[in-house]
Amino acid sequence: MASSSSDKPQLPLKPIPGSYGLPFFGPISDRHDYFYHQGQDKFFATRIKQHNSTVIRTNMPPGPFISSNSKVIALLDASSFPILFDNSKVQKLNVLDGTFMPSTSFTGGHRVCAYLDTTEPNHATLKNFFINILISKKDTFVPLFRNTVSESFLEIEDQLSGKSRTANFNAAFGTAAFNFMFRLLCENKDPAETKLGSDGPGLFDKWLLFQLASLATLGLPKIFNYIEDFVIRTVPFPFWFTKSGYKRLYEAFSKEAVTVLDEAEKVGLERSEACHNLVFMAGFNAYGGLKNQFPVVIKWVGLAGETLHKELADEIRTVVKEEGGVTLNALEKMTVVKSVIYEAMRIEPAVPYQYAKAREDLVVHSHDAAFEIKKGEMIFGYQPFATKDPKIFEDPEVFVARRFVGEGEKLLKYVLWSNGRETEEPSPNNKQCPGKNLVVLLCRLFLVEFFLRYDTFEFEYKTVVLSPAVTIKSLTKASTF
Ligand code: HEM
Repeated sequence: MASSSSDKPQLPLKPIPGSYGLPFFGPISDRHDYFYHQGQDKFFATRIKQHNSTVIRTNMPPGPFISSNSKVIALLDASSFPILFDNSKVQKLNVLDGTFMPSTSFTGGHRVCAYLDTTEPNHATLKNFFINILISKKDTFVPLFRNTVSESFLEIEDQLSGKSRTANFNAAFGTAAFNFMFRLLCENKDPAETKLGSDGPGLFDKWLLFQLASLATLGLPKIFNYIEDFVIRTVPFPFWFTKSGYKRLYEAFSKEAVTVLDEAEKVGLERSEACHNLVFMAGFNAYGGLKNQFPVVIKWVGLAGETLHKELADEIRTVVKEEGGVTLNALEKMTVVKSVIYEAMRIEPAVPYQYAKAREDLVVHSHDAAFEIKKGEMIFGYQPFATKDPKIFEDPEVFVARRFVGEGEKLLKYVLWSNGRETEEPSPNNKQCPGKNLVVLLCRLFLVEFFLRYDTFEFEYKTVVLSPAVTIKSLTKASTF
């Protein structure tokens, strides 16, 4: 018997509209629309309009020959999307990247935690291992991050006083994300003092690119579209080209993360499997997420303009003075800072795609209809359409800095960036990001550090691959404090 995703029995049961087209040609045509002819948002918006439905059938990239089956049921509203978090109804086995999975050579031959389903015993063991690491390190988060980003701010100022008078935000704060995670897991060891030197972020970038290239486009001029599509989406990139870089990363973590790896052995994990999992968590989950997240935050705060900058600076400086420093208590009192971070995560979630397979026949509800999904069918959620659902959020396309202040906090259950609701917590039994609270904390701290130093800034951005590439053009030093 099919089970229901929520209590809306009165909604009419409809067939899921949309088509997959001809074998081979359908997926290729859809992916050309998706990357080149329409772009992601228009791809889904056009199909919603065409079928008058926010639950539709379509193909998702990469398609042939990287994925053997690119058929998905796309959930494009806030009502249907959360079925992806119900682990009793959906299976999350090897679906982290969607309709394909990179070779396990990228992870030392192991299927690491993020690819495991909740019914696999190793998932709970590894997830617990991660959660316990984060709990044991929680007192170091604030001082460690403050130290790490102060180097990035110096770097930005240095670049601004140089010849070009501009600074590369992504590189400076990507390095901060890497250094923070390395020091957190490796007894505060400076990665520059290991065999990695300053190569860590670049090595992770290459390793990530080789796994995820088929999901991206470089945004080259039109005449290159077909060549790009053929080169990056026909066969997977081999691990071989990143082998030596991955080995350096693995060896650095293996040598320096002694305490956490000792803990792993105590809970029954094999040391090398734990270390490959640690590298994946640090490099793919954490560094990969954070290096996109900081540019998203600065972009939206930058676009909001000087009035918001002043409001943030006032709030941050007042609270820090009252509390006598940058503490967890102080951060908790910064209502505008908190709301701004949630709003950035709502309007541009750093990981916009989530996948899962139906564990059983089930019924999913959009706002106005019910749809049956058969066991084994692939479900895909395009998160920006859930978190910008006009039936939930007023002016969904507008960045409203105070959206989550006061009564607005009730809307936090519709903020979904962590593969779960903001009002719920990661656990060994679910697939919610264990870094959820850490990420929110680091984003708040980033804003605090920024507006303790500066009153306002000028910037430019362009969207490259999957996230904004931000160039800082000027920083105005703090006039008060
Ligand atoms: C802005 C930064 C981050 C974003 C946007 C993010 C997002 C996500 C998302 C969407 C998932 C679920 C993927 C899926 O199954 O579909 C996930 C899982 C995961 N994340 Fe994060 N994450 C971030 C940072 C971190 C950090 C800092 C850590 C660790 C310290 C972390 C560790 C993990 C792990 C281990 C999983 C797999 C969970 C499981 O298998 O149950 N992430 N993250």
